Amino acid sequence: MKSIQVKETGGPEKMELVDVPTPSPGPKQALVRIAASGVNFIDVYFRIGLYKADLPLTLGSEAAGTVEAVGSEVTEVAAGDRVAYAMARGSYAEYAIVPAAQLVRIPDHVDFHTAAAAMLQGMTAHYLTHSTWPLKKGDTCLVHAAAGGAGGLIVQMAKMLGARVFGTVSTEEKARIAREHGVDEAILYTERDFETEVKRLTGGRGVDVVYDSVGKTTFEKSLSSLRPRGMLALFGQSSGPVPPFDAAILNTKGSLFLTRPSLAHHALTREELLWRAGDVLNWVASGQLKLRIDRTYPLAEAAAAHRDLEGRKTAGKLLLTVP
Ligand SMILES: NC(=O)c1ccc[n+]([C@@H]2O[C@H](COP(=O)([O-])OP(=O)(O)OC[C@H]3O[C@@H](n4cnc5c(N)ncnc54)[C@H](OP(=O)(O)O)[C@@H]3O)[C@@H](O)[C@H]2O)c1
Repeated sequence: MKSIQVKETGGPEKMELVDVPTPSPGPKQALVRIAASGVNFIDVYFRIGLYKADLPLTLGSEAAGTVEAVGSEVTEVAAGDRVAYAMARGSYAEYAIVPAAQLVRIPDHVDFHTAAAAMLQGMTAHYLTHSTWPLKKGDTCLVHAAAGGAGGLIVQMAKMLGARVFGTVSTEEKARIAREHGVDEAILYTERDFETEVKRLTGGRGVDVVYDSVGKTTFEKSLSSLRPRGMLALFGQSSGPVPPFDAAILNTKGSLFLTRPSLAHHALTREELLWRAGDVLNWVASGQLKLRIDRTYPLAEAAAAHRDLEGRKTAGKLLLTVP
């Protein structure tokens, strides 16, 4: 089978299309024939070596496809099922081995592209808005990269929960997309200071929660945009990791809460996974949640997808399609 492998960490040019034997599932695993694989920033982190994995590694953390075969102890799915998953590595390939407990069945009227696009960023938006800081009517939040894959879904879920939502974006076109997702105010941070804007929009108070996927370049101002006892949910680092800091800053800026959460810790049981994935896929099926699939690339062009994602050229989901 074909797969995209990284033999040594580095730039997108280190991603190679290679032929490898199709694997067989272990007792609790399934072999999935991939139809579409999501592209996520976490794949970039593995490619550059920021997140560690044994080499060579097959990139990709999310996909949708058909179960080809299952191991002897698998009860969750059967051969022929249409399934989707997130947070199991190796999806930039024609086939992937996935722990069966991580697979969810795709509702009949949801296609593979939609399902692959929904899982990782959708469940992330779900845990951030429903668990990390469970938003309620009237809460205020700031979402960075509000036209982005994760950001656009956080905005939509925050609006579903009745929050007032501000979103940062780098361009006018991304501001238009963020408004389509539902932001009450799109803040063009390349032209206006977002902290000053948030203070102005909240009458000097600050927001209840900041969902920050940008990291290094936004961290301090995100803290300064919070009301006393507000929360910074620092869930990504698209601009680079936040450098070490003095924890006293959380006190001086208003007895703040800071968390650095991961999806892996918010789908710890099968029940929790099915809750989040079920909500996301059902909202997508009913049209309540709109996925913006920005670009699709053939598997062989995965490196182009990484260049576009890292180059801030994208606004929504990137998918690799497998013939
Ligand atoms: N912890 C978790 O559970 C979890 C799960 C999913 C994703 N994430 C994280 O969420 C982040 C967003 O992921 P995504 O796949 O949805 O990507 P994305 O937000 O669609 O793309 C990244 C966006 O970040 C903004 N950005 C600001 N500074 C940047 C820089 N220096 N380099 C690149 N982008 C920059 C850009 O938007 P503007 O042009 O508008 O600035 C860019 O389009 C990633 O850091 C990812 O690791 C975390």
